[in-house]
Amino acid sequence: MRLSAILLVALPLLVAAAPTKREEGKHRHRISTTSTSSTASSTATVLPSPIPFTIIAAHSASPIHLQAVNAVNQSFFIGVPPSSYCPAPPVTDCPAGTTTTVGVNGKAAFLAVEVPGGQQIFVRRHGALGFTAPHSATLPAGAYTSGFSLVPGTGGGLGDFGFANAAGQGFLACPTTPAGPPYQVFVDVKGFKGNRTACIGFDALTESAPVGAWEYT
Ligand SMILES: *[C@@H]1O[C@H](CO)[C@@H](O)[C@H](O)[C@H]1NC(C)=O
Ligand SMILES: *[C@@H]1O[C@H](CO)[C@@H](O)[C@H](O)[C@H]1NC(C)=O
Repeated sequence: MRLSAILLVALPLLVAAAPTKREEGKHRHRISTTSTSSTASSTATVLPSPIPFTIIAAHSASPIHLQAVNAVNQSFFIGVPPSSYCPAPPVTDCPAGTTTTVGVNGKAAFLAVEVPGGQQIFVRRHGALGFTAPHSATLPAGAYTSGFSLVPGTGGGLGDFGFANAAGQGFLACPTTPAGPPYQVFVDVKGFKGNRTACIGFDALTESAPVGAWEYT
């Protein structure tokens, strides 16, 4: 095939692949339902929970009690605000990006974001809770994506976010400074690396909330 013929064939595909403003708008105020990837295993469409929520750590009489769990630097921390981004322009009405919102579908968890493609939450092999970069479905080697759960609150009360699979279960908040904060969030997996005794186990309470950000970084 001659080059000009290839271009003629390829051009409509490229045009079709470019998201229009209207298409991006369709994703607003919902958690994105698909992830794009070059690998077959991660192209499955996963429907997220229709109700996004924020996560609040609970361990009474500890320094993390009733503090927000936030998405920062592709990990999760307690004691620092989320790191989020709004592509303005062209997007003109991003959420404030000051809260971290999550959704659960089946045993998978996602950040509740507006960016097309969404952002998946996973547990790294050594326990750190993480999330995928915007516009990428790339997961670290050995990451766990299955095992998340949500017990919704009833009557307007708080719910419970969880993680449990064969590798381990339960959330830990581990100090990142000699003084303690900020605390990084881990799951207590068999392969956990770090000073386990310095970490604080906690319950991950959930509270329904509007989508918090265009994307987290
Ligand atoms: C996130 O990354 C920035 C830039 O590398 C760094 O300054 C900041 O301390 C990190 N935040 C946390 C909570 O680790
Ligand atoms: C681990 O953490 C505990 C509790 O904070 C501390 O007493 C101990 O010295 C730490 N161990 C190491 C090897 O840092």
